[in-house]
Amino acid sequence: MTTLQVRPPTAHGRLLDWVEQYRRVLEPDDVHWCDGSEAERERLCEGLEASGTFRRLNSDLRPNSFLALSDPADVARVEDRTFIASVDPDDAGPTNNWRAPAELREELLGHFAGAMRGRTMYVIPFSMGPLRSHISQIGVQLTDSAYVVVNMRIMARIGDAVLAELGDDGAFVPCLHSVGRPLTDGRDDVPWPCDADNKYIAHFPETREIWSYGSGYGGNALLGKKCFALRIASVMARDEGWLAEHMLIMSVTPPGGQKHYVAGAFPSACGKTNMAMMVPTLPGWKVETLGDDIAWMQFGDDGRLYAINPEHGFFGVAPNTSYRTNPNGIETLWGNCIFTNTAATADGDVWWENLTASPPEGLTDWRGRPYAPGSEEPAAHPNARFTAPASQCPSIAAEWEDPAGVPISAIVFGGRRARNVPLVTAARDWRHGVFLGSVLNSETTAAASGAVGRVRFDPFAMRPFCGYNMGDYMAHWLETAAARDPSRLPQMFWVNWFRRGADGRFLWPGFGENCRVLRWIVERVEGGGESVETPLGYIPPPGALDLSGLQIPPEHMAEMLTVDRAAWRDEVDLIRDHFAGFGQHLPGELWEELALLEKRLEA
Ligand code: GTP
Ligand code: SPV
Ligand code: MN
Repeated sequence: MTTLQVRPPTAHGRLLDWVEQYRRVLEPDDVHWCDGSEAERERLCEGLEASGTFRRLNSDLRPNSFLALSDPADVARVEDRTFIASVDPDDAGPTNNWRAPAELREELLGHFAGAMRGRTMYVIPFSMGPLRSHISQIGVQLTDSAYVVVNMRIMARIGDAVLAELGDDGAFVPCLHSVGRPLTDGRDDVPWPCDADNKYIAHFPETREIWSYGSGYGGNALLGKKCFALRIASVMARDEGWLAEHMLIMSVTPPGGQKHYVAGAFPSACGKTNMAMMVPTLPGWKVETLGDDIAWMQFGDDGRLYAINPEHGFFGVAPNTSYRTNPNGIETLWGNCIFTNTAATADGDVWWENLTASPPEGLTDWRGRPYAPGSEEPAAHPNARFTAPASQCPSIAAEWEDPAGVPISAIVFGGRRARNVPLVTAARDWRHGVFLGSVLNSETTAAASGAVGRVRFDPFAMRPFCGYNMGDYMAHWLETAAARDPSRLPQMFWVNWFRRGADGRFLWPGFGENCRVLRWIVERVEGGGESVETPLGYIPPPGALDLSGLQIPPEHMAEMLTVDRAAWRDEVDLIRDHFAGFGQHLPGELWEELALLEKRLEA
């Protein structure tokens, strides 16, 4: 693309200075200001096809869609290479990797110097949240990846409209990104350029800056998402009295009843997208989707908590997404999508594990090799993803872009736990709910590189995404609600769709059947919902859940709806260690809640 723009499309002095400052460091061949237009998208996609990054899918089967296969060394978020460079190491806390800001800047500048030689530097103005919402925020990303540009165009609102909103003096979060593979000395390009051995996902919370180097994948590279909308936004939210959370947003309407909005925090690859798009199996119940990954929430003048989805698309886990488990997800993907690291079919479409009962013939795996049926290795990478416009989701709520947000009635925490954690537990009150969120733990998944299936504490599903000390984060959750009318606060719940029996199989059918739990949650919110008090919180007796039409052995239901006291005494020991790790930063109220739990377990 020969688009050296002599005159940039903005008169924003600080923005122009910043772009010029890093143009000199990165030394791209030219600079392209993204306008966000359809024509621009088409040109970029053609270029990506020519460079071998994109393969265009069969347009009869999936119009306007592409498949990208990444470098096998660049397939997921890299938590061990994610840094919070706060001035004080204590502000990063024990769950983050801290680096001294000046030192990290110097080290990274060494990598950034000349990193875009032979390439174009794209300038992407983007808005997290609908334009003209008081909750939204603007960022500008510099990147040398056209793949990132076309993904950002789906995931956020980008281009001229954002520059117009920014005006000559608006605030923006500067986001620097390079894949770290300059084309110097006639070096050829590769389909997925990266610098796999030198990745850095760096955050400077005090100056609200993001510097990402070496990776082109997902949350490492689409900087509006985890880097801005969670790590930097969580710091903004702490300072300004709001909440930036790793949560889905959905609505639930009982037959002939009132609509309720629910937010849900589940760790990566633990069920947010699926829950947000749920097709309820109970007759007459309706679910609509507002967001599948991130919620920004602020209290309104009426004392209720209002949420917006700062994103504009879904970057969802492909494997196991099927008509059986997530029909709305499948229908969202009819066209205009980017697939990364899925398998390819012989007729030019995509495939992943469990999309259909058995793999079609003539499949090519995510590494571009012929797939041998019955192979030990999956055809799609376990963290293969689709990038899809949210507006294409059949269950998208009409109000999903309402700049005012929607009032949240219930907050649900959910982890992936084979044992001990019941199917559903209602918190006693806000403080107890914060306690349940703070002790959320879950088996690790392929969404981040490293071991899969290891149980770890993941408070509020934010462990990899909190831009400051998580002990302070828990205190912030307590403080934001402290002086508020408790009757206007969302009620909090802990769910677990992932209990396993002795044979290793899931005890609960999950997906659309989760509406049976959602029904009890709505009943609780409306003042009903029969329950028994347990040491952990309020749990429905099996008769209080509508299980009509399900064939679940009563002993399995009993297992999912009881608190095993002996097992929980062991859990308490783990929680004590988890809390102790935060030292003075852990709010005393949570130690009190732990003591109360311990006492109830003894009773
Ligand atoms: P991120 O995008 O990584 O933040 O993940 P997410 O929380 O949106 O997870 P997603 O909904 O994509 O689910 C990830 C995996 O969990 C997929 O393999 C799903 O099929 C599986 N899953 C989701 N809901 C359920 C459920 O109710 N029961 C079972 N057994 N599996 C589920
Ligand atoms: C997650 O890992 O929680 C994701 C995918 O939503 S990524 O954007 O890569 O972080
Ligand atoms: Mn996520």
